Amino acid sequence: MKNTTLHTLAQMKREGEKFCTLTAYDACFAQLVGEAGVEVILVGDSLGMVLQGNDSTLPVTLEEMAYHTACVKRGNRGALIMADLPFMSYATPEQAMESAAALMQAGAHMVKLEGTAWLADTIERLSERGIPVCAHLGLTPQSVNKLGGYKVQGRGDAEAQQLLADAKALEAAGASVLLLECVPSPLAKQVTEAAEVPVIGIGAGPDTDGQVLVLHDILGLTPGRPPRFVKNFMAEAATPQEALRAYVDAVKSGAFPAPEHGFQS
Ligand code: KIV
Repeated sequence: MKNTTLHTLAQMKREGEKFCTLTAYDACFAQLVGEAGVEVILVGDSLGMVLQGNDSTLPVTLEEMAYHTACVKRGNRGALIMADLPFMSYATPEQAMESAAALMQAGAHMVKLEGTAWLADTIERLSERGIPVCAHLGLTPQSVNKLGGYKVQGRGDAEAQQLLADAKALEAAGASVLLLECVPSPLAKQVTEAAEVPVIGIGAGPDTDGQVLVLHDILGLTPGRPPRFVKNFMAEAATPQEALRAYVDAVKSGAFPAPEHGFQS
């Protein structure tokens, strides 16, 4: 399998070809996810909820992220590995540098961090030192207590303009990828068109350059009612491998996300 790089993603954006991202936290699923054709594996701090049973991502530590990143690296067959910097591991640019180094040494090809324009200095420094960064905007789960819940962000003109300005500031600071979570589909389209770098969406409608979902959600393994933007691809599949391929095919063809998976302004 050919290695996916940032260059691959940039080319896919230019050519209008959708790319797939999916979380994985171990070697077994890293291999299966890559073999299904997923271009980017996200070692997400969602593992704090999915694997560890916490009610948020806040308890996840840097050591745990490095452990799971190393597991994914061992199973990976050519996908680009993006690893989450966990809560409070990038409170200052200096701390971000040390934390990002730990994840890159564990096998990540890039790191993801959550926030708005306040991250510009941190992103600039990481990027200058050769660490590619994905800036996660919109619903940022590490700020769930500040946001007052897992709610759609960027609704209304003022909030939408602010999110657009933050996205531009973080791209200008050197972010190589943007990720939008739970923002209205028209706003995600606007950010994607304005950005030169690839934009990944989750609960952000059909117009972003790539899509991401949580592995356990698409396999129908998450207890309780799934969020609106999730589709259970296991419902019509005989094996997990078939479900993973169905996810990839649906993203590539534009069948996923459908309008019912998105939010309006
Ligand atoms: O941690 C994670 O899995 C994420 C995705 C929900 C985007 O950040």
